[in-house]
Amino acid sequence: MVNKDIQSVLICESEIKEIVKGLATKINKDYIGEQLLVVCMLKGSCIFFSDLIRELDLDIRLEFMRISSYGNSAKTSNNVKIIHDLQEDIKGKNVLIVEDIIDSGRTIKNLKELLAKREPKSLRVATMLDKPDRREVDINGEYIGKVIPNEFVVGYGLDYAQKYRNLKDICVLAKSVYLN
Ligand code: IMP
Ligand code: MG
Repeated sequence: MVNKDIQSVLICESEIKEIVKGLATKINKDYIGEQLLVVCMLKGSCIFFSDLIRELDLDIRLEFMRISSYGNSAKTSNNVKIIHDLQEDIKGKNVLIVEDIIDSGRTIKNLKELLAKREPKSLRVATMLDKPDRREVDINGEYIGKVIPNEFVVGYGLDYAQKYRNLKDICVLAKSVYLN
């Protein structure tokens, strides 16, 4: 049972659905008539990605990438390491990175710099959540689901120490779980 580890529900399942539909509407409009390579950033964005792509009415292809960021800690790390790279060449293509959350912004900044070197036609970021209060570098996503306060959240793909990803709601994790 994980209930005792949850402080509160921040975004419930039905609100998540509305947020995803809203984002997809914008993306569908912006890329009309274009091909789009949608990149799932593993593991955190897997559920958001799965919901989002099914709302896209576009000529899309899927790619998966995994980089390391947090390890088992709730604090940010300064460098990214590629664990699983894209299989497709992105040169000349429209690329949309799908992320779970932008926190310090370091992960997405490093990732964008890395992928920009491969000369895509366009490179944008869709993120389910944004914690602008925690930003350490100057970066923002083009498609932002919801701006949230400075709380550590889990569920809907987001983890703490690899747990809680399967929760249907986005929940604030009880501080007792990580403050010992
Ligand atoms: P950043 O480099 O600090 O922006 O960190 C981005 C990554 O940290 C995300 O892709 C998440 O995996 C993780 N992260 C940041 N904040 C949270 C949170 O509140 N809950 C779960 N994971 C988080
Ligand atoms: Mg994570």
